[in-house]
Amino acid sequence: MDRRTFLSWVSVGWVASSLPVAIVACSSNSQGEAKPAANGRSDGFTTVGTIADLDKSGQILNEQFSGAALLVVRNPSDPKSVVAVNPTCPHQGCLVNWKTERNSFACPCHQSLFAADGKVLQGPAVKGLATYEAKVEGNSILVKGK
Ligand code: FES
Repeated sequence: MDRRTFLSWVSVGWVASSLPVAIVACSSNSQGEAKPAANGRSDGFTTVGTIADLDKSGQILNEQFSGAALLVVRNPSDPKSVVAVNPTCPHQGCLVNWKTERNSFACPCHQSLFAADGKVLQGPAVKGLATYEAKVEGNSILVKGK
């Protein structure tokens, strides 16, 4: 290998190893402002579906929302609004389902029940479901990630 070839390989290696650092440096926000969410909103809300989607199946489930799972249903005490919870049961991790007839989330594994606001109605779970801030804008359902 001659000197020129060696220097070419060293240069290519340096550029390749520096690329991830350059990408991170260019994508960080040096003024500490909130970065827009993936859908372009700067308030942290993400569109997770439409009212039509919700009415079609009675719930919207996203198992990859903000690093966790998300379940959105109509708020039983105000059907024009929605509630959003992490449907992962705090007892042993099964996914709860919304039961419209009972206005509650039910765990299929050991029958814990949770109110629409995530609070425990019936054990064995002792801790409630985590909730998300959610709202309706026009026909869109928006949820704020954590
Ligand atoms: S995992 Fe939900 S009640 Fe046990």
